[in-house]
Amino acid sequence: GLKKKEVNVLCLGLDNSGKTTIINQLKPSNQSLFGPLSDDWKHVSQVKTQTQDIVPTIGFNIEKFKSSSLSFTVFDMSGQSRYRNLWEHYYKESHAIIFVIDSGDKLRMVVAKEELDTLLNHQDIRSRRLPVLFFANKSDLREAMSLVKVSQLLCLENIKDKPWHICASNAVKGEGLLEGVDWLQDHIK
Ligand code: GTP
Ligand code: MG
Repeated sequence: GLKKKEVNVLCLGLDNSGKTTIINQLKPSNQSLFGPLSDDWKHVSQVKTQTQDIVPTIGFNIEKFKSSSLSFTVFDMSGQSRYRNLWEHYYKESHAIIFVIDSGDKLRMVVAKEELDTLLNHQDIRSRRLPVLFFANKSDLREAMSLVKVSQLLCLENIKDKPWHICASNAVKGEGLLEGVDWLQDHIK
């Protein structure tokens, strides 16, 4: 078939927000959200497929998945504070950002906002119209804040110079993720 366009996506957000769980759901497997391991993977040896045990990320991991028109390379970064200084090294080569928020973590929403603001003000991000996809993740938790509440607390309406979108998600069940990837696919240039 036609070769899909290759894009780099940076997956950011605080530790424990669910980044690796989200990316894992998008990776190829027989139960993947994109359906059975597609033909375009068959010639690729050692494709990293979905895993059962997700552990806190050390540094970062590079993962790959495909949507209908794009071939994504995702830098799944650690959200732990001691590793957040790694994030900026990957801004330049990224075509889009996925920013994950734990909707149940009210206490650290202000920390998430600080990290988002630092990201958006960075010299390698500030002047670029790269799409930013937000996942208000863990929407299944009883104490989860609504998507509207999360948007307000992060002041997303203030982002005027980039296309952005927010989806509620439950990464454990895979809910809400495809809507996000569809949006990304439509907004990556
Ligand atoms: P770091 O790698 O440390 O930055 O964390 P991370 O953002 O990659 O989080 P990770 O995917 O490791 O998930 C952290 C924990 O949250 C795991 O126990 C997941 O099972 C859980 N989790 C992830 N998404 C959801 C969700 O949508 N709902 C619920 N209830 N739990 C979730
Ligand atoms: Mg992780």
